[in-house]
Amino acid sequence: MEFSEVLKKRRTHRHFLEDPVEKEVLEAILHAATRAPSAGFTQASRFLVLTNPEAREKFWSIVATPQWREKSKSHAGLDNAPVLIIPFSNQSAYIDRYQRDDKRYAQKKIESDFPSPYWTIDTAFAAMLVQLAIVDAGLAYLFFGLPVDRSLLLEAFNIPSIYEPIGVIALGHPANNDPSASSKVQVRLHQDDLIWMNDFKR
Ligand SMILES: Cc1cc2nc3c(=O)[nH]c(=O)nc-3n(C[C@H](O)[C@H](O)[C@H](O)COP(=O)(O)O)c2cc1C
Repeated sequence: MEFSEVLKKRRTHRHFLEDPVEKEVLEAILHAATRAPSAGFTQASRFLVLTNPEAREKFWSIVATPQWREKSKSHAGLDNAPVLIIPFSNQSAYIDRYQRDDKRYAQKKIESDFPSPYWTIDTAFAAMLVQLAIVDAGLAYLFFGLPVDRSLLLEAFNIPSIYEPIGVIALGHPANNDPSASSKVQVRLHQDDLIWMNDFKR
């Protein structure tokens, strides 16, 4: 698919079919994560991929009540999504990386030395590449923030506590080709509203 087509097609979907995602297609989607940039080339983002029904059920039992799963209209069929990808950041890896000889000049020893949270930025960039790869594969996805205490998830999947989930990507075949508007009050802004060309624009 042309990149311009991927951009045009990228929308949030909230209803999925149970149809599985082929192994090779999933491999290609996950490969996109390896193409992400990272500060100091730290490459500390990790991705928990849940494909088997038991693992997915364990996930949903942690993040959603049975009532919500049965009754939510806005997200009906979200838990049909055959693949869940949970991207994790790792702040401590950046503190370690910037102590190495080739980076020590940057004087970044503690969190507040970083001008912004590079660990979150890098994981979000990688997660975005994965999202674009999903669209490129002709599939659909929802990215959502984790609605529960992250420690529950770490414990359930034996993940060390240095890792911070930044959200969840549910992906699969869309139940319809018409992604519902996520908000009744927000409209997509025009490019001119986003861009300050050469100076701040009111
Ligand atoms: C950090 C983040 C958290 C989000 N959380 C949710 C969520 O909890 N539920 C949901 O339905 N959509 C969620 N979304 C999707 C947004 O609602 C969606 O991207 C936005 O409304 C624009 O729609 P579009 O992606 O179709 O362009 C989230 C998106 C981001 C980036």
